[in-house]
Amino acid sequence: MVATAHNNSNDTLEKIASEVIECPLCKLSRSRKNAVPGEGQISAKVIFIGEAPGKNEDETGRPFVGVAGRILDEALQKAGIERSQVFITNIIKCRPPGNRIPEDDERAACRPYLDRQISLIAPRIICLLGATAYTAILGGKSIKENRGKIIKRNGQEYLITIHPAATIYNKNLRHVLEEDLSSLSTKIKKMENQERNSLLNYIGDQNDRCC
Ligand code: URA
Repeated sequence: MVATAHNNSNDTLEKIASEVIECPLCKLSRSRKNAVPGEGQISAKVIFIGEAPGKNEDETGRPFVGVAGRILDEALQKAGIERSQVFITNIIKCRPPGNRIPEDDERAACRPYLDRQISLIAPRIICLLGATAYTAILGGKSIKENRGKIIKRNGQEYLITIHPAATIYNKNLRHVLEEDLSSLSTKIKKMENQERNSLLNYIGDQNDRCC
């Protein structure tokens, strides 16, 4: 079955994943071992978006399970964010040969899947990992001017940070990723507190009204 840009009420993450697994829409479908739809809960408050699956992801069908994945996991753990509580995916769902940067036709073919995942999960915040995700989602060439910042676009908040793989050969960047994920964690906690307080206020109002 072929992806469509529009969402509908029958859409599910499982349906999207099964379409991605069988997707024939671009040339990467002929070189991949496994497509990598992404993983996580529909209730996730945060979606992480990377560039594209690498070798390990192509072999397993899971996102961020190689070296970059271990770096992401460590940064998440240090920030106190559970990997199981977020949704992790990529701009494109199949590995480009030699891990080259995804081409325009590949991004375009894959984009409806990502849009449907975002639309279903409706995250409070989307974390863009690196320049490819930043450019594809928000436009602009370099993440330098916005790295570490939260940007609001069309009602959706985005945190822009570096790609975990960027820290493999430049270990000094490790603390940059960790710092950004730590501020993401603070932001999530703040949002959860606000939600809890408005719920408590609502319950208080209802009690006042009926007693
Ligand atoms: N790099 C990415 O951008 N995504 C993955 O899933 C793995 C490595």
